[in-house]
Amino acid sequence: MARPDPHSYNDDTQPETESLTWKARVDFRTRRLHAEATLTLKEASAGPLDLDTRDLEIRSVVDAQGKPLPFLLSPPEPIFGSRLRVELSPGTKQLTIRYRTSPQASALQWLTPAQTAGGQYPYLFSQCQAIHARSVVPLQDTPRIRIRYKAELTVPKELKAVMAAGFVGREEQGVEAVERYEMPQPIPPYLLAFAVGRLAAKELGSRSRVWAEPEVLEEAAEEFEDVDAMLRAAEELFGTYDWERFDLLTMPPSFPYGGMENPRLTFLTPSLLAGDKSLVSVVAHELAHSWTGNLVTNATAEHFWLNEGFTVFAERRIIEALYGEEVAKLHAALGRRVLEDAMQHFKAHPQLTALRTHLTGVDPDEAFSQIPYEKGYLLLRALEEAVGRPAFDAFLKRYLEAHRFQALTTEQFTAFVEKHLPGALAKVDAEAYLNKPGIPGSAPVPRSERLERMASYKAKVPTKDEVKDWTPAEWQLYLQSLPHGTSKDVFRQLDDRFQLTKSQNAEVLVSWLVASLRAGWAPALGRTEAFLGEVGRMKYLKPLYGALAATSEGKALARSVFNRYAERYHPIARNAVESILNRA
Ligand code: BES
Ligand code: ZN
Repeated sequence: MARPDPHSYNDDTQPETESLTWKARVDFRTRRLHAEATLTLKEASAGPLDLDTRDLEIRSVVDAQGKPLPFLLSPPEPIFGSRLRVELSPGTKQLTIRYRTSPQASALQWLTPAQTAGGQYPYLFSQCQAIHARSVVPLQDTPRIRIRYKAELTVPKELKAVMAAGFVGREEQGVEAVERYEMPQPIPPYLLAFAVGRLAAKELGSRSRVWAEPEVLEEAAEEFEDVDAMLRAAEELFGTYDWERFDLLTMPPSFPYGGMENPRLTFLTPSLLAGDKSLVSVVAHELAHSWTGNLVTNATAEHFWLNEGFTVFAERRIIEALYGEEVAKLHAALGRRVLEDAMQHFKAHPQLTALRTHLTGVDPDEAFSQIPYEKGYLLLRALEEAVGRPAFDAFLKRYLEAHRFQALTTEQFTAFVEKHLPGALAKVDAEAYLNKPGIPGSAPVPRSERLERMASYKAKVPTKDEVKDWTPAEWQLYLQSLPHGTSKDVFRQLDDRFQLTKSQNAEVLVSWLVASLRAGWAPALGRTEAFLGEVGRMKYLKPLYGALAATSEGKALARSVFNRYAERYHPIARNAVESILNRA
């Protein structure tokens, strides 16, 4: 095989990169990085070396002696970007590429001061997963190849640069500051990450601190204060934490995801700041990736479920350890609902509902869904039930231990299961999860008294007394289970009694707004419109724009709201909403 990853120009007959030294000057005025990347190869080599790039302007390529190396930058291809082919002269072990990024670099969002909490300083952040690292650094942008790196970011002196790496030092020189970082553990390129802004930090424990703009720092520190306990619970379950620190960065609202597991520095949406720690399962999820994903990685996007399915499984185990089985079951029940919705959504593309996907010609951002998360979770739960928890726990530790700092395919995973849990795959009909569409009929279903009570409501409006101990997860489950066709009157009663339109919990609010929009309950429109200007998290934008655009009156409103706020959204989110509106 020459090109093992359908989303990378990487050719496996060519040398692999071992490490990167990256120097970049951050220019907020032109929205460019002026950069230099030195790639060190695993061995001295000759001949062509193909690198991934997107929208990079290449200035020069030289070897370790400064001698120019011939190179060719091909015209961009859809999904991939442009191949940069460098001709290595015999014995080349190191090459340095001078280049600058484009203001449209797909991994970067440049925020104006008005888009930040403080309103005074600009902000820049990266989001490289799945295949955006190539818009920041020319490299072999495939999770099969891990690199260690050293980085030096030059930024305006008033700002702080943070990276998902170990901090080495900061030096101020005139109006600029140089911040140095080093990542001694090898990482897949999608985990390269940094942010630059007016940032401050607060300690949460001996291995954790939270970074945020000063305006939200206290709030963030309170919301995430249990992170140390989470870290200890996770180590108990999955083995020693290998990344030394687990710091958190509270992002500006336009961050398009709930969280991103950048090693040593998880990025989190500020929409988690509910004031009552009710949304910290996202932190548990990103922490879990320190094992499932960052240590043991999917070989290509076609095996993405190995990252996310395992991580949802691990996340719920952490939740169970910290908050008990009942809470973990509620989360599992919510996951099941999400999975059913996703199956509905992909009705026309059943092949994308198998865990092992085939993505030649498909952009991983387009294929993204909750299916690898929740169907993957169900497969692992089924295996756990089939062999019993003690045996599955032992298997999990062994699996992680055996594949540390490696990338795996689904086929390698099944071979490993067959070896260590013989017969288990057949017993749960793993084939139905891995290679067939839909949800297997035998998939495990969470059961508890509390869940049964929840299921009995349907469209009945609960009394104040009945909801007095409901957690946000129960509210979500209740709201998401309201039958289609529930009358507007029910929504009016619910809002009169529980002021759901004023909910401070983003998950509850979105469940509420989506259900009320679907029912055509007009008072939801105003809050929806305002909320769409406050958040950029795709998980919220997609269903809200989808629900708005589903009615003929809503469609025009959705367009005008989008036109008003598109500038605020991350380019990835903007594309996602655009395609929802175009489909409607
Ligand atoms: N790694 C993902 C986010 C991601 C996936 C970014 C694919 C780009 C491409 C992260 O770990 C994640 O899954 N985040 C979830 C939260 C989680 C609790 C399910 C999210 O953002 O909603
Ligand atoms: Zn994840």
